[in-house]
Amino acid sequence: MAIKTCLMIGGSGMAGGWIQNFTGNFGDRVKIVGLCDVSREVLDRQKEALGLGENQLFTDFNEACAKVKADFCGIATPPQFHSPAAIAAMENGMPVICEKPIADTLAGAKAMVRTSQKTNLPCAIIQNYRYSPNKQELVRIRDEKRLGRLQHIVGRYACDYRVYESWGKAWRHDMDFGLLFEGSVHHLDMLRFLSGGDCETLMGFGWNPEWSSFRHYSSGFYLMKMTNGVHSFYEGNSSAAGITNCWHREYYRAEFEEGAVEIAEGNQMTIHRIGHNSEVYDAPKIEHFGHLHLFDEFLSWLDGGSPSATRIEDNIKSFVLVIAAMETTVDGEPKQIANYLSDLNLYV
Ligand SMILES: NC(=O)c1ccc[n+]([C@@H]2O[C@H](COP(=O)([O-])OP(=O)(O)OC[C@H]3O[C@@H](n4cnc5c(N)ncnc54)[C@H](O)[C@@H]3O)[C@@H](O)[C@H]2O)c1
Repeated sequence: MAIKTCLMIGGSGMAGGWIQNFTGNFGDRVKIVGLCDVSREVLDRQKEALGLGENQLFTDFNEACAKVKADFCGIATPPQFHSPAAIAAMENGMPVICEKPIADTLAGAKAMVRTSQKTNLPCAIIQNYRYSPNKQELVRIRDEKRLGRLQHIVGRYACDYRVYESWGKAWRHDMDFGLLFEGSVHHLDMLRFLSGGDCETLMGFGWNPEWSSFRHYSSGFYLMKMTNGVHSFYEGNSSAAGITNCWHREYYRAEFEEGAVEIAEGNQMTIHRIGHNSEVYDAPKIEHFGHLHLFDEFLSWLDGGSPSATRIEDNIKSFVLVIAAMETTVDGEPKQIANYLSDLNLYV
């Protein structure tokens, strides 16, 4: 496997983590040959660390995509730049791996899908939470029917972000539907992943408590009926003051025919069966955790391996759940998910 050159769009925050990963864990597979960030200070800092010349640094992603001929482009900027940057990269011949959410609008996300299809270039989206031992084990329990058939799943996310900027960046507190675009996009995708079905109907509510640090809704309840008959319920709360289930500690309970499985923090699996003591064990380890799995899978795809499970043609089915949740919050109507996808030709 030849080393792959990368144009990186974004240089600090989550993008800084990507760069550390590429240099630290994938040094034999990835070489960053161009970096774009709107912050000159970020460029100067990474220039040193990556040994880049001035002609490899950019503040404009269109210019970077036109000038840097890399084997792929990584994008980890705030959401509103994902679609224009990804389209510029693909139009210039580069496959893309991009942070969630796909984009900030449905039109932007669909434009990315269409550009990937038109250029026939891989485009993968990060869904790191799928790749943790407890989630993978829950899917195995379902697939192997260890507890019979799956009836429904409850998911709970709750973070104490009652102080402004406590969720990393001010923009997360100021944007519209921050819970949905920055938070629930992970959890609605997870409920798709854990249920084994796509969403057929979604409905629910969103609200903003008076004491919220968010300009827009910090909290919501959403219900989904999946195409395979599984139902799910999601509680999202970025104003949590009591019991938290924050990042990597989200709570999921799957109700099966012969018992229920609970997962939350760490790798612990708890299985409850009426009339039996609860069974508690650690989920088997996985080879690559979170982003590492996604980078490894994407690089293998570029080398002719299987497409990423969270390629854009699949992940758009999670992204539209955010759009549907936003719309049902506004108009109170149940949303048929197929309607959001009917103008796309999806092959997965
Ligand atoms: N998968 C996860 O677990 C996870 C966690 C946190 C954030 N994220 C995602 O990562 C992305 C970035 O979030 P963040 O908190 O790192 O944001 P951020 O505000 O820290 O921005 C990341 C970098 O992008 C740069 N940037 C901003 N606009 C740019 C532009 N137009 N062109 C080039 N660079 C630009 C910023 O200067 C910064 O260096 C978001 O999509 C977010 O949802 C994912």
